[in-house]
Amino acid sequence: FSNFLTDRFDRQHTYLRISITERCNLRCTYCMPAEGIDLTPYHKLLSTEEIIRIAQLFVSQGVNKIRLTGGEPTIRKDIVELIGELSKLKPQGLQTIAMTSNGIALKRKLPKLVENGLNLLNISLDTLNPYKFELISRRKGLEKVLETIEQGIALGLRPLKINCVVMRGVNDQEVPDFIELTRNKPIEVRFIEYMPFDGNKWNKNKLVSYRELLNDIRTRYNDVRKSSDDLHNTSKTYYIPGFTGQFGFITSMSDHFCGTCNRLRITADGNLKVCLFGNAEVNLRDLLRENVPDHQLLDIIGAAVKNKRKQHADLLIDNNNNYMTLASSAKNTFLY
Ligand code: GTP
Ligand code: 5AD
Ligand code: SF4
Repeated sequence: FSNFLTDRFDRQHTYLRISITERCNLRCTYCMPAEGIDLTPYHKLLSTEEIIRIAQLFVSQGVNKIRLTGGEPTIRKDIVELIGELSKLKPQGLQTIAMTSNGIALKRKLPKLVENGLNLLNISLDTLNPYKFELISRRKGLEKVLETIEQGIALGLRPLKINCVVMRGVNDQEVPDFIELTRNKPIEVRFIEYMPFDGNKWNKNKLVSYRELLNDIRTRYNDVRKSSDDLHNTSKTYYIPGFTGQFGFITSMSDHFCGTCNRLRITADGNLKVCLFGNAEVNLRDLLRENVPDHQLLDIIGAAVKNKRKQHADLLIDNNNNYMTLASSAKNTFLY
């Protein structure tokens, strides 16, 4: 395995998350302000050729999974072609092409994406109530998201994951409704602990820990069992015997999973980020544009990876070493 992508704590980075646009067609309150975010000028964003060059470089060093994120990735006009180009890296070791989307504008494109090589889909959905949907995302569109989920299942995307950010007093009462979705559908619902980002109005009272959720779920369903989790999984997965799907928890706040992190990120403007919560970035775009050769790029990438911290930096952790008590300063656009 490539030395360049192994860090000081022996974490091998085989999973690359590429943000392909900063734009979004929703305005989720936990993610961005109503007016949206300042967008990077077009010429500073990666072109499709540049994305492919970066992807190729990372695949040559052992990356086997690429997830396209945003903003909302379907906003990018050439998403279908982009996935087709990425698929050409499959014979070189890329095994999985995944995408995280809000599902608003995806249904129509989805068959083509799958045909071109999309393997996995995660859909962000925090409520099943149309009024709450509008309250949380500041836009309408629940019906469209639900149709996209059905379409994904029909196209055979398995497991199709739903990401649900749980906020106390907002959607925490809907947890059982989400679990009911898994009764007859091959869906994995993941309840995500609400994370603090610059200006997203996070407050500790709105955070519902996974332990609290799991306790509530156990009082409603008497047989809840643990599934086995992949080493690098962000979530702790459970199932109810007889249900088609399963559910899990992404415990970024109460029980971080930095020790098994295998992810690196590329921002839409071409910076490498080695940690979601770190502000350190390495500008790869300008190097590409200066025609820096691969081996030099790899030296620079390798140095950044070697600088990756043991765990996310800005959060304070209590005596039990697992409960964060202070908001971090991660920026929402770099979330993905
Ligand atoms: P899989 O590839 O299906 O495991 O998806 P994923 O969980 O890696 O990605 P997804 O885009 O669906 O993100 C789900 C949640 O995990 C989001 O709330 C992300 O912010 C969080 N997440 C993703 N990557 C990281 C990470 O490196 N660190 C932390 N702390 N959270 C992450
Ligand atoms: N806390 C937790 N999860 C978040 N996401 C966006 N903002 C936050 C936050 N503040 C989730 C989205 C999406 C995933 C990639 O990250 O809902 O599903
Ligand atoms: Fe858009 Fe996703 Fe942010 Fe919501 S969480 S505003 S869907 S980028």
